[in-house]
Amino acid sequence: MAEEPETEPEIEARLPEQDSFEPPESFVEQANVTDDPRDEFDENWPQCWENAADKLDWFDGYDEVLDDSDAPFYEWFVGGKLNACYECVDRHVEDGRGDATALSWEGEEGETREYTYEELLDEVQAFAAGLRDVGVEEDDVVTMYMPMVPELPIAMLACARIGAPHNVVFAGFSADALRTRMENASSDFLVTCDSYYRRGEKLDHKKKADRGAPDEATKIVVGRFERYVPTDGEYAYRELVTRHEGASVEPVERDAEDMLFLMYTSGTTGTPKGVKHTTGGYLSYAAWTSHAVLDLKPEDTYWCAADIGWITGHSYIVYGPLSLGTTSLMYEGAPDYPTKNRLWEMVEGYGVDVFYTAPTAVRAFMKWGTEHPESHDLSSLRLLGTVGEPINPRAWKWYYRYIGGEDCPIVDTWWQTETGGMMVTTLPGVDEMKPGSAGPPLPGIDARVVDESGDEVDAGDAGYLTVHKPWPGMLRTVYGDDERYLSEYWETYSDEDADEWVYFPEDGAKIDDDGYITVLGRVDDVVNVSGHRLGTMELESSIVGVEGVAEAAVVGGEHDVKGEAVYAYVIVEEGQDTDDTFREEIVDAVEDDIGPFARPEEVVFTDALPKTRSGKIMRRLLEDIASGDELGDTSTLRNPDVVKDIERKLEK
Ligand code: WTA
Repeated sequence: MAEEPETEPEIEARLPEQDSFEPPESFVEQANVTDDPRDEFDENWPQCWENAADKLDWFDGYDEVLDDSDAPFYEWFVGGKLNACYECVDRHVEDGRGDATALSWEGEEGETREYTYEELLDEVQAFAAGLRDVGVEEDDVVTMYMPMVPELPIAMLACARIGAPHNVVFAGFSADALRTRMENASSDFLVTCDSYYRRGEKLDHKKKADRGAPDEATKIVVGRFERYVPTDGEYAYRELVTRHEGASVEPVERDAEDMLFLMYTSGTTGTPKGVKHTTGGYLSYAAWTSHAVLDLKPEDTYWCAADIGWITGHSYIVYGPLSLGTTSLMYEGAPDYPTKNRLWEMVEGYGVDVFYTAPTAVRAFMKWGTEHPESHDLSSLRLLGTVGEPINPRAWKWYYRYIGGEDCPIVDTWWQTETGGMMVTTLPGVDEMKPGSAGPPLPGIDARVVDESGDEVDAGDAGYLTVHKPWPGMLRTVYGDDERYLSEYWETYSDEDADEWVYFPEDGAKIDDDGYITVLGRVDDVVNVSGHRLGTMELESSIVGVEGVAEAAVVGGEHDVKGEAVYAYVIVEEGQDTDDTFREEIVDAVEDDIGPFARPEEVVFTDALPKTRSGKIMRRLLEDIASGDELGDTSTLRNPDVVKDIERKLEK
């Protein structure tokens, strides 16, 4: 007879009580890094970054580790030549590991595919030849808009091979979002897919791609379930690859500072910005952090359950693990499809060694109950990680106890699209772990917590996270907009006259006596929904675009599973009905302009927004209301009654 699921108090009682955890002995014994390299890095900075560059086999060595003569337009590994595809594929074949599995893939419906490094090399070369065939030249930006299928990393690597930067757009983004990104990147090529499954439902992806892609774009389409029959101006992926089967395409020599890819992300102002990453610095950093933090080894099966459409998938599904010759597992579908056992079946079935996911997923696992992980053998796991948002201590402990069996360290890794790789986290074989706190900065990373005027705060006080030295994985600029690069990231805390440059990630944080950093969340107008960054300005402009809307304010409110959810406060024009139909219209507009994952959780119609006497919307207050928090001082408000009214409307 099946056992009764455990009750909440029973689960709670089995969570460890202490506030700090030593790395398990069994882990330390085999860890890639066991002696803390931080002092050595500090004493030898920036030369210490050779440790990262040494993870790669450069065609031509660099002359200088760092050129800071034009700060903050830093250059790394100056003069070095390499090819990212060669680093991730060819060299492992040359080293005699051609038979090792590079990519293991599972579709939502259960079909599987595997590519050894040798097979990956063949397909990447064939597709690289195909890309050239359709007119892609070195430095052309190729956009990819596809779900989690093996053709996505293959296309990225093929681009890297011929020196064409890629620009991956998450498949959940709308047609409009695709268009903005292709236009901003002046990208004339699109690799996409006809359809895919999500929770058993077949989605027509091609229709979205057609609506979003500029008319003149050349499209290459992957037939997900059957042969794709191309129309004018299109090519079928499979046909191209077949036509070029057996092709040998030399990896082009790229300069360390040549662009490897663009990735668009939301910020406080304006449209999404194209974060530019380079070949040498980014790849060295992805490889080094995969080695030091994810502890990856060539024989590992490693699973990062993110989507390649976000930076986490770029650095830690594709570039980091493949550069180290690891097996990277990819899963196409939803974590609870067809049942809530799916992930644990896969961990058991593939013998996953290292598992990396987002706190929002961990909170969902908690909700689903312990019976799912407990009915599977998860003993292959050696290390767990999280990324994307703060993880609350209870979720951390649940992950540690029920997934890791109290035998796996957890790395809570703080970083961003812009940083290219992890910045603040414990080293799993070295540092004590403290649930809720990401940990100390990584070796060579000078992260601090400062107040408004840039002075370091006292231990325990809240302030702003800042980074006081450059690092190889950093973004080089905002594509086509150096001014924005300066104003968004450097202006706030740098002293230009003294040539002192401070990077500002726009996160709040506090720091303990022992240098452990707890990240508190964004301090700009960015909402973090299930680890996805959304600019409130983009959301607001989508909502005010709906006929009948006069004004809108969007904030993030606390959410059990998503971390934050989108709350929209909307003022309508005279005569406009505020019924459910209109509410649906607003939600649909956001889905159309951005994507379904950006759907507002609540749309609250109100006659006014809380404003200060000087006319500024008090967002903090709107956030508190959305989160159901105690409201602070409202005496500076011009219209305090509005607050009561909104609160009443939100009470369910
Ligand atoms: C947040 C994702 C707390 C943070 C790799 C950051 C985190 C933003 C953590 C970047 C963490 C990421 N603890 N907060 N471990 N990791 N964040 O660009 O606010 O999608 O600025 O990159 O996510 O999101 P992005």
